Amino acid sequence: MYVCVCHGVTDRAIREAVDDGATSLYDVQCTLAVASCCGRCEDSARQVVDEHIEKRVASARPFAASG
Ligand code: FES
Repeated sequence: MYVCVCHGVTDRAIREAVDDGATSLYDVQCTLAVASCCGRCEDSARQVVDEHIEKRVASARPFAASG
């Protein structure tokens, strides 16, 4: 799905940027021009970044904390 219409950036491209080491929307913007024109996509782009980082962190934990 397109997150940034101005620059044709998809959620998949944003997740790939995180997989390649981006840890914030700012980092993603170093490789993708997302949210650098009208800015309407900024909140959505940030949400994709944050959710994917959280997913990666959760999957890196061998066991969920209990209690
Ligand atoms: S939709 Fe992303 S900058 Fe305009």
